[in-house]
Amino acid sequence: MRIPFMAGNWKMFKTKAEAKAFAEEFKGLYEGTDVETAICAPFTTLEVLVEEFGGTKIGVGAQNVHFADEGAYTGEISVGMLEEIGVDFCIVGHSERRQYFGETDETVNLKLKKLLTSSIRPIMCAGESLEQRDAGKLFDVVKGQLINGLEGISRDDMIKIVVAYEPIWAIGTGRTATPEQAGEMCAFIRNTLIEMYDEDVADQVIIQYGGSVKPANATEIMNMEEIDGALVGGASLKAKDFMEIIDF
Ligand code: PGA
Repeated sequence: MRIPFMAGNWKMFKTKAEAKAFAEEFKGLYEGTDVETAICAPFTTLEVLVEEFGGTKIGVGAQNVHFADEGAYTGEISVGMLEEIGVDFCIVGHSERRQYFGETDETVNLKLKKLLTSSIRPIMCAGESLEQRDAGKLFDVVKGQLINGLEGISRDDMIKIVVAYEPIWAIGTGRTATPEQAGEMCAFIRNTLIEMYDEDVADQVIIQYGGSVKPANATEIMNMEEIDGALVGGASLKAKDFMEIIDF
């Protein structure tokens, strides 16, 4: 039985003070909810969120990490640094990182492997561009991201990874994939995991949809059989909106 999991992705939004104000409001709204949740926030707000959400079931996630233990990598943050402040999740391979910061399937793979040596669960993003969808390459693209990104990852580790299907054309555009389009790709991802691993593993992996998820469309997306949760950008910035999505 997979428990629904809704993660917020704040991207480069919110100062420490803003994160604290969100957390104070959100904690109260979330209390008593069964759906699992986490907020993936800027590095500078992680410690505040870990403190604020202490004693609750609300998780805290980073949005990126480096794959080396330490070293001369100006501007980067290590898995150990995230672990030290008590982070539970880390997004890997978001399309914005692939597009603007040179993230590749190879670095995604290295980051996943490093995270899996820690207690931090990766949220691995995959998804096609509009051009790739229009050219009918959507399934090949996503399958390639999975095969290359997950190369060498064991069954036991695969179960810890959350996979987020995020079609690039639906991110921040207000243009959500239809529930059928989202459901079709999430089912394809689960089938690919059956091919790569087995049914038992694929059954346990949480697969999220992400891309313009809002209170108004959360129910129809969550009604799709193979969608176990959502990765929510813009609509996770307001505690009430995000809570409405969690309460789908
Ligand atoms: P959006 O972003 O919900 O603002 O479309 C989703 C994401 O990029 O994770």
